[in-house]
Amino acid sequence: METQKILVLDFGGQYNQLIARRVRDHRVYAEILPYTTSLGKIRKAKYAGIIFTGGPNSVFDPESPHYAKEILDLGVPVLGICYGCQLIAWMAGGKVKTAPVSEYGKVEFTAGESPLFRNIPKSSVVWMSHTDYVAKAPAGYEVIGTTADCPCAAMQNTQKNIYAVQFHPEVTHSQYGDQILYNFLYEICHCRGDWVMDNFIDTTVEKLRRQIGDKRVVLGLSGGVDSSVAAALLSRAVGKQLTCVFVDQGLMRKDEGDYVEKTFTSMFDMNFVRVNCAEEFVSRLKGVKDPERKRKIIGREFYRVFWEEIRNQPELGYFAQGTIYPDCIESGKGDAAVIKTHHNRVKKPKDIKFLGIIEPLSELFKDEVRRVGERLGLPGEIVWRQPFPGPGLGVRILGEVTAEKIKILQDADAVLRDEMAKNGYEKQMSQFFCVLPGVKTVGVMGDHRTYEYLVAVRAVTTDDFMTADWAKIPYDILAKVSNRITNECPHVNRVVYDITSKPPGTVEWE
Ligand code: XMP
Repeated sequence: METQKILVLDFGGQYNQLIARRVRDHRVYAEILPYTTSLGKIRKAKYAGIIFTGGPNSVFDPESPHYAKEILDLGVPVLGICYGCQLIAWMAGGKVKTAPVSEYGKVEFTAGESPLFRNIPKSSVVWMSHTDYVAKAPAGYEVIGTTADCPCAAMQNTQKNIYAVQFHPEVTHSQYGDQILYNFLYEICHCRGDWVMDNFIDTTVEKLRRQIGDKRVVLGLSGGVDSSVAAALLSRAVGKQLTCVFVDQGLMRKDEGDYVEKTFTSMFDMNFVRVNCAEEFVSRLKGVKDPERKRKIIGREFYRVFWEEIRNQPELGYFAQGTIYPDCIESGKGDAAVIKTHHNRVKKPKDIKFLGIIEPLSELFKDEVRRVGERLGLPGEIVWRQPFPGPGLGVRILGEVTAEKIKILQDADAVLRDEMAKNGYEKQMSQFFCVLPGVKTVGVMGDHRTYEYLVAVRAVTTDDFMTADWAKIPYDILAKVSNRITNECPHVNRVVYDITSKPPGTVEWE
């Protein structure tokens, strides 16, 4: 039986990915398509339900995104959210106006009788963000929710199975938002809840076996979550037909390269090629201080070594990548023909040929990738790995990168990681690491004056890395970290803590 699908029709709202993730959390597959997707394509896909997202426009602006009215007659249940709610009202002949009072933030909502509001109290808090509102519900629609300033905060047409809410059920500030989405999926769309990771693994493994046959596959493994899970999945599907190429530039955290190698060679059936080129990388970076030049050199060298290794492969095969769903979503904001740059997709040299490209995780969000990784038996250190910049420690050593500085930074960073793990802080932080600004300061050790390196500790909490707060690590843990780094790491005599949020700072220092 085919997996049921919900369509999240994107009208340019900022929470669209969140809507799809919430739906999937309820074990129903959701995909996001731009509002420019044709009605024929939508009809053919046989969705179990359609959700119109929010968006920044006004429906009465002729330039704003609209959709053919017939979408409301497909016999497929529809839920409109915010702009999506106003759009349904507009399409069905109701009245949409600029609201006399814009609502923004948490608002008291009164719910009426509706399958959409099953098991939620009459009065609850919802999250609003709108300047227009539905002034008059269309004929055939009844108002099923109000707020003090919004006379039609929710409406329904039960005959056609069309529902709409002015608020955002997908954000956690809406007290019963999750229940409302659940009700739409199970009470209205009658979903089966068949999107579970075990099914995903089974069907994907089956699909990969069929596609790859007896051919070979090569995957670039970085040790990050996405490529690691792709490797584990491919290994389960085709075993030794898979070759993972792991380029170790010597810019990973302490012992991390060895850990990645050990994990993949001991736990999985595959060919594992580790290319050690730390010395070469350091020599290429000699005398280079400018951060952008360093990034460029590291990136260029990485791919030079990587493609060289691929050229050494014995026969023509497939090329696999750990691309995930957010890298593939088309934006509904502007020209839908323009697909967002797939930053995981790599430009390959002309002389290299493949039978095709395989992206086994291209349907998954990051949290789903982690769940698949756990089920495939990958260790927590890899599945819950923090984001780590492509250029690695190369951008955490400010100025020139030398082998000595890499060693100092790796040692200090290992102490920080150890203390965070011991104190249970590891999972509470989005990211934490040490930085070596390349500055030396005066200190005293015993009776001697020292002149050694300063290490900065950086730790942040964030939802999306677009903004971030500096983490309020307790003083006693910071004291322990500082004490241990200055005692255990030669050439470090001072530790400082970065108390800058983003903005104005960035997470990384370079
Ligand atoms: P910033 O420093 O921009 O970092 O606030 C936001 C997130 O992106 C990561 N980051 C990078 N990742 N290549 C990457 O793959 C890079 O050059 C790079 N620079 C920053 C950073 O670690 C944080 O998670």
